[in-house]
Amino acid sequence: MHEFRYRNNSLYCEEVKIKDLVKRFGTPLYVYSYQTLINHFVKLEEAFRPINPLICYSVKANSNLAILKALVDKGAGLDIVSGGELFRAQRVGCQPKKIVYASVGKTDREIEEAVKLGILFFNVESYPELENIQHIAKKLNKTAYVALRINPDVEPKTHKYITTGKLTNKFGIDFRSAKQIILLASGFSNLRITGLHIHIGSQITSPDPFVAAIKKVIGFIDKLKKEGIKLEYLNIGGGLGIIYDRESPQTAAKFAAKVLPLLRKTGLKIIMEPGRFIVGNAGILVTKVLYVKNTPKKKFIIVDSGMNDLIRPALYNAYHNILALHKKNRLEKADIVGPICESGDFFAKDRELPKVEEGEYLAIMSAGAYGFSMSSNYNSRRRPEEVMVVKDKVFVIRKRESSVDLIRNETVPFFLLSR
Ligand code: LLP
Repeated sequence: MHEFRYRNNSLYCEEVKIKDLVKRFGTPLYVYSYQTLINHFVKLEEAFRPINPLICYSVKANSNLAILKALVDKGAGLDIVSGGELFRAQRVGCQPKKIVYASVGKTDREIEEAVKLGILFFNVESYPELENIQHIAKKLNKTAYVALRINPDVEPKTHKYITTGKLTNKFGIDFRSAKQIILLASGFSNLRITGLHIHIGSQITSPDPFVAAIKKVIGFIDKLKKEGIKLEYLNIGGGLGIIYDRESPQTAAKFAAKVLPLLRKTGLKIIMEPGRFIVGNAGILVTKVLYVKNTPKKKFIIVDSGMNDLIRPALYNAYHNILALHKKNRLEKADIVGPICESGDFFAKDRELPKVEEGEYLAIMSAGAYGFSMSSNYNSRRRPEEVMVVKDKVFVIRKRESSVDLIRNETVPFFLLSR
């Protein structure tokens, strides 16, 4: 459920008519509903209340400071993957003990910053990384805390680019190596392994892969316990799917019903890292129809947003529902494409779509997660404005980029200027 609805045939975000936003801010425009964002966080929190997990929102899904601050204010922690995300986490005042840090390739500088700050733990993905964290923590005379990321080798049944829990993926450590690493690390002076982490993939719509992965990891925890190795945390990652098309992903309550009994048994403090589930349906991308082009084979609706603004269809062939701001009853088959010089620059292909004319507007739905955060300046396009709607109020949370923003960090070498 979300707060984007038609009223008298006009699409609204909460109590604001989106057409009015377009008049004020232009297009392409990302519009977020504060209420939808918070509702999803609260749904998860309530579903898991019996075990009171720390919900670390996955910053990569949408890293806008306003989104982060809104969630941190509601008690969320943050799941980060870079020094840049650590910077954002600090900017919104997230307590260090509510930050977990994943990534297969953390640099020395990134590790150093996080150790100095005293984050809850690193999700560590390999033995060399573990050694490096020990080395850096020792140099700083600090203790670093770690959850080993386990690769449980389960099939999450999602797009192959966002599958992470198979042994052919670069992520995590297999059980056998994990055991050896835990034993070796017990000799490390400045590092403590306090937990285990799994994250098997993203946009997973069935509970079964989660249950399979959690069962495997619980078996491992039991083995460790028998050998006297005690842990404090189990981080079950993110990956909960949302509705883009006709899929019927589990609700927070249904997901909890399946995994809660398992998690409870561990007696460990549970961490979760949802991204898409919280922010995915809380945002849309609004775009203007520039031209309607008929060719002998197809009809193309050419819009003013491109794959630089929302890359998911181009990269994963992802489906996003597309609505007209003014509700249409007539449909027609067309492709919706952007202005970028690549045939992968599309939002919909051969789809029955609202019949729109030049100058009308479309809303690309469920664009809150991995939309703006994966945007780029390809084709020297200025990235869109982002606004947040709270009931009948509108707040700009990121200005549209200017031409000067595009070249801000570029310099022409002196030898070229002197000619
Ligand atoms: N934790 C870890 C370690 C992750 O790698 C990810 C996402 C998450 C949590 C959050 O996953 P979520 O709850 O959002 O599924 N760009 C792709 C998705 C990439 C996911 C990367 N990792 C997309 O647009 O579908």
